[in-house]
Amino acid sequence: MINLSGIEPFASGYNRHCYRHPDDPALCLKVLRPENIEARFQRQAWPKKMLGRARIDDNRQELRAHQQQAIRALIKDGHNELVWAHLPQFHGAVGTSLGLANMSELLFDDHGVPGETLEHYLKHRGFDQPIRDAADRFCNWLLETGILTRNLLPHNLVIIDRGGQPELFLVDGLGAPAIPDKLATLPAWRQRYIGRRIRRFYLRLDWETGDQSTSWEASQKL
Ligand SMILES: Nc1ncnc2c1ncn2[C@@H]1O[C@H](COP(=O)(O)OP(=O)(O)OP(=O)(O)O)[C@@H](O)[C@H]1O
Ligand SMILES: [Mg+2]
Repeated sequence: MINLSGIEPFASGYNRHCYRHPDDPALCLKVLRPENIEARFQRQAWPKKMLGRARIDDNRQELRAHQQQAIRALIKDGHNELVWAHLPQFHGAVGTSLGLANMSELLFDDHGVPGETLEHYLKHRGFDQPIRDAADRFCNWLLETGILTRNLLPHNLVIIDRGGQPELFLVDGLGAPAIPDKLATLPAWRQRYIGRRIRRFYLRLDWETGDQSTSWEASQKL
């Protein structure tokens, strides 16, 4: 078991804390924040509560998301590099003193510092041409691989320099948990689904770099 006591997370989202592996700085360990999972659970209407807490366990969903058909098929055919071109390499679940953690590649820059999120970049530098090109490459990769994701949010994408140019990596939000497996295997349906996620992503980028006078939720209804 990996002991995380006395270690501060290098970053945290709403649902998980992210730690650097104490024995390997190139690995990221994500553990659930039980208080937030519980709060999310309590906010659900009773029919959903009947389905239990496992349904909203982000680590469990992420494990399942890596088993999706597109990723399984690419790895089976030896296209590992293509899979990990925009995803941190994933190493599954491991035991820690803070419960089960999902272990993945930690994306860091030339100075060993964890990469900047797209959200942070947009706030400080705007949606400039190098990042527009990186976003286009990321979206083309989604269409090419057929990998399914949830809504693409700038705080879930990390920017890392690869081969002299910035590339986007999806660190959270892989998979399409609400979609039946059968449907997800149909290529035409998959392309339509991904196309919708991409259109929404660009809307989000416009909103994120605009004056944000309307909330994201409200801007969807305009
Ligand atoms: N593999 C990684 N390499 C570098 N930084 C990472 C990595 N994974 C996560 N991070 C950083 O940690 C933050 C939180 O991680 P993550 O999004 O997985 O947490 P979460 O709680 O599931 O998020 P949310 O609030 O979106 O549910 C990210 O926004 C990013 O800044
Ligand atoms: Mg996140």
